[in-house]
Amino acid sequence: MAYEPKNYDHLKGGALKGFSDSQLDQHFTLYKGYVAKLNEIESKLAEADNTKPNYSFSEYTELKRREAVAFNGSFLHELYFENLGANASISPELQKALDAQGGKDKLVADLKATALSGPGWALLTRNRRDGKLHTYFIAEHHLGLPIEQDLLLVLDSWEHAFMVDYGIKRPDYINAFNENINWAEVSKRFAR
Ligand SMILES: [Fe+2]
Repeated sequence: MAYEPKNYDHLKGGALKGFSDSQLDQHFTLYKGYVAKLNEIESKLAEADNTKPNYSFSEYTELKRREAVAFNGSFLHELYFENLGANASISPELQKALDAQGGKDKLVADLKATALSGPGWALLTRNRRDGKLHTYFIAEHHLGLPIEQDLLLVLDSWEHAFMVDYGIKRPDYINAFNENINWAEVSKRFAR
């Protein structure tokens, strides 16, 4: 099955304070590239010879090694774009979970610190093992992602997400991100 990239043009035209159209357009182009590569990898895997996998090299092995990069690169971006669009509406259930762990501001501050830990992704999740909210850092798109998580809020902390608008000022970008969180979408994910 081929994946179709989604259109997020509704985020342009000043819908997000602190995000220029040029920044968003370049990010959309990059996201579409991951979807195209995911389709390419899946179609090549369907044809690849899986009878001689090899740690050093085989076409099949390399495709397998990079499959999660393109998959997560595609769908982490969708989660990111979809949790943007300032909306302060938090469900009572999510509010309760946030309050039980020191409040929204504390967790958002921890997500910021997570995102400042390097280029990659910062996630706010519900950990299915302890039922609590957690923040985690993913390098690239696939390194360090703990299993058993419901992804609630996704923050892209790669340079391409902010260099056009903020240069090397990652903290300023994260502050802008925090101003544009769609808490209604986060609440919807929490309810699932
Ligand atoms: Fe990105």
